[in-house]
Amino acid sequence: MADLMTIDELSVHYERRRMGGCGRKVRAVDGVSLSIRRGEILSVVGESGCGKTTMGKAILNITRATSGRIIYDGIDLAKISGAELRAMRRKFQMIYQDPYESLDPRQSIYDTLLEPLLIHRRDLSSVQKRDLVMSHLEAVGLRPAEMIAARYPHHLSGGQRQRVAIAAAIILEPDFIVADEPVSMLDVSVRSEILKLMLDLQKDKDLTYMFITHDLSLAWMISHRIAVFYLGRMVEIGGTEEVVHRSTHPYTNALVSVIPTVGKKMRGERHILAGETPSASEIPGGCRFHTRCWLYHDEGEPEICRNSEPELAEVADGHMAACHFKLIPSRDQQAVFDVAERLSKPAPTLNPLGL
Ligand SMILES: Nc1ncnc2c1ncn2[C@@H]1O[C@H](COP(=O)(O)OP(=O)(O)OP(=O)(O)O)[C@@H](O)[C@H]1O
Ligand code: SF4
Ligand SMILES: [Mg+2]
Repeated sequence: MADLMTIDELSVHYERRRMGGCGRKVRAVDGVSLSIRRGEILSVVGESGCGKTTMGKAILNITRATSGRIIYDGIDLAKISGAELRAMRRKFQMIYQDPYESLDPRQSIYDTLLEPLLIHRRDLSSVQKRDLVMSHLEAVGLRPAEMIAARYPHHLSGGQRQRVAIAAAIILEPDFIVADEPVSMLDVSVRSEILKLMLDLQKDKDLTYMFITHDLSLAWMISHRIAVFYLGRMVEIGGTEEVVHRSTHPYTNALVSVIPTVGKKMRGERHILAGETPSASEIPGGCRFHTRCWLYHDEGEPEICRNSEPELAEVADGHMAACHFKLIPSRDQQAVFDVAERLSKPAPTLNPLGL
């Protein structure tokens, strides 16, 4: 797949002001480089506060980057503003965890979907705009479209509201969508329907998704590649099977070990994360994961982990990890990660796609 976008050393630092004094820097995103491939679903996985939302918003220029470049079609999105930014906005959309964030409670569903067309599609007649609104309501499974269009967000269920948000995101035919935990606030019963809809749209419309989730098993089900984040940094990235089968960073390995069907069989190899994630305003020196790293302890607390931040290095084709030590999966672990077994015994707690 060709690259859609290249992100180069992206950082977003916030100033956290304290009463009567100067504040500490919150390094929400701290030097992230990655390429997003056209037509892929790239999941960004990590614990709460690791900078997932901030990065998604910075890529779309909803939040301004402190430094770094976001190159799309030869243009640095981090630098543009005004009319240039408005024109680019058409190509990039965000779907939020809470659909209320993107829906104006005072606007009917019809007006919600019409609004982007009024701004960006002045070439269309009123009838054409109306047809587009109706066809998009139908495309996201909201029928009869006429009846839904007349309603307001509070008349709809959570799942229906997220469908409207998805329709609003695709109505301008974007290239790229950042979906920030789009199903985590929905009832379990409707999660799989919404995921299925998003995956169908991705294929039909040749969309590229950055799918943000704290749930590695969900990422495993739906993505082509997975990027794992810890405290503002990307610590591992690679093809989905590669990251799950051969997790190379101890943090990813700990996340993998709590996927129900996998962790149960890892026995002695199960690595539970100890302690709390440090604050993004007090990131530990050296390897930022060392305060919670089981491998650091197993290796006898080597100095290099406290003194030097590991860079991402290739461990297999297209698979990179940022750890001074290579983590080699044991034969037991490899057996557990057998693909055929995974497909025949899907995770019992979450199987949204019926794999
Ligand atoms: N506007 C802001 N001002 C100051 N700090 C912020 C701001 N927005 C986010 N942060 C901080 O930046 C860090 C990253 O936050 P972010 O919301 O991007 O994380 P996240 O991975 O999306 O978390 P979650 O899974 O809880 O949604 C956190 O420490 C958060 O407190
Ligand atoms: S560099 Fe050291 S502390 Fe960091 S993940 Fe690797 S083993 Fe753990
Ligand atoms: Mg978030």
